[in-house]
Amino acid sequence: MKYLSLSLFTALTIFIATSCSTSKKVSTTTTTTTTTTTTKSTGITQADADYISAKMGATTIAELTEGNTIYTAECGVCHGLKKPSARTEDEWKSVVPRMVVKANAKAGKTQINSKQEAMILKYLVAMCNK
Ligand code: HEC
Repeated sequence: MKYLSLSLFTALTIFIATSCSTSKKVSTTTTTTTTTTTTKSTGITQADADYISAKMGATTIAELTEGNTIYTAECGVCHGLKKPSARTEDEWKSVVPRMVVKANAKAGKTQINSKQEAMILKYLVAMCNK
């Protein structure tokens, strides 16, 4: 009887010691660091704005973000939205004006104006190599 309670006590001690060390381990691994270099979930960075500025004239992150917004709103009306990486820069340069003509014809008015067309194109060129 004495041995039984002694071994029970030992087992309990081991159990408590084990669970204590386990919970300690968990609590030390919960620190995470998040570094945000992009805006919202578009993946557009200042590097993209610089790249497009050098290529196609002064462009801000805000304009590329607006290009993404217009692209999403206007270019998925007749078919699914293509990923920017689905076409090359040169292909986008010829497809976008062709599609703007279609969009405006369908709406029977200027649905996408030339400023918006330029923003769509800049967004697609910025993202097509990603
Ligand atoms: C009025 C309907 C309509 C709208 C709006 C529209 N498209 Fe299209 N799109 C089409 C049709 C129809 C085709 C297939 C025939 C063709 O290629 O002309 C097509 C084909 C495409 C293709 C594949 C053709 C190729 O040569 O690679 C791409 C890419 C594309 N569209 C992108 C866009 C983009 C970008 C916009 C927004 C500026 C857009 N579309 C808006 C009707 C539309």
